[in-house]
Amino acid sequence: MDLPVVELEPYLEARGSQPLPENVRNSCLEVAKCLREAGALVLRDPRCTPEDNDRFLNMMERYFGMADEFKRQQERRHLHYQVGVTPEGVEVPRCALDKDLQARMEKIPDSEKPRMPVGADPKWRYMWRVGPRPANTRFKEFNADPVVPEGFPDWIEVMDGWGRKMIAAVEVKASLFSFLSLTLSKTFVCIDCCRDGCDWIWPSSRRIHILDVSGSDLSKFTEEGSVFAGYHYDLNFLTIHGRSRFPGLNIWLKQGQKLLVRVPPGCLLVQAGKELEWLTGGECSAGMHEVIVTKETIAAAEAAKQAGRSLWRVSSTVFGHIASDAILQPLGHFASAQAAKNYPATLAGDYVESELAAIRLKTA
Ligand SMILES: [Fe+2]
Repeated sequence: MDLPVVELEPYLEARGSQPLPENVRNSCLEVAKCLREAGALVLRDPRCTPEDNDRFLNMMERYFGMADEFKRQQERRHLHYQVGVTPEGVEVPRCALDKDLQARMEKIPDSEKPRMPVGADPKWRYMWRVGPRPANTRFKEFNADPVVPEGFPDWIEVMDGWGRKMIAAVEVKASLFSFLSLTLSKTFVCIDCCRDGCDWIWPSSRRIHILDVSGSDLSKFTEEGSVFAGYHYDLNFLTIHGRSRFPGLNIWLKQGQKLLVRVPPGCLLVQAGKELEWLTGGECSAGMHEVIVTKETIAAAEAAKQAGRSLWRVSSTVFGHIASDAILQPLGHFASAQAAKNYPATLAGDYVESELAAIRLKTA
């Protein structure tokens, strides 16, 4: 089974027209259905080309291939690793610490069960904030200056270019999602509305998006089942993944089935994060996922080795967040849902801090 592919082109062409053509309305419903039932979907945005993705992957393969001492110069531990590099062995996957999550994993049948990691994730990652920096916020450490490594003259252009394209795709999707399907007030994550000065939950002047690039060394971790990122959910609103050159991402659908993700060339993968789950009172639950070495990963690594290509598995992810200073709580009709009591009102930035502490990125 593969995830459905939602085409963004018809939406982009019809944007702003009233009423929306039927194929676009159907696309909105498809997006909402996927997020409710699967927590994920594949998106084809004609603005995100395979060439853009390749340029980005080439640069990051070169970066992760540098010596550890060089990469550690970009480490910003005091900023909770929210900018710059996070070395291997720092981030502890939530499933290794969280008893509730472990109980949930226990209930998954053996054939679908995630791999239980041993200790911290062995992947490197690079965090890059894309877009404007909020002027007034209580959460300044989430908005630190970006870190640029020496010897990479195109770094800013490539990171910003690819990051912005992925954000553009996620924003259209957020807009699609809210437009018809949730029957909420139009201010709910409605980009078009926000551009007209709406200053509610997804305000362009106050939201923060992070481009997170993971680097996993397939010359070092060659055994099937090696865990690069243990079973977890993402804490943000919507996550968008660029296509990697190596497979290895498993996701779990809401009904519990495991799916090895295959993203066709020119496409992106979108997953629901915890902030979306919170805002919808659990209706769109955050998608669980892991990155491990699979048979397919080993085959792709072998082919790369034969061809003399890099063995770093690079993946690009944009974490779309709601504004740190916005209140996270079930919105509209979700506030009266049975499960709404599980999602008490909390400042989004406080929620993010508590999650970072739980996975040991924020230390005392
Ligand atoms: Fe993730």
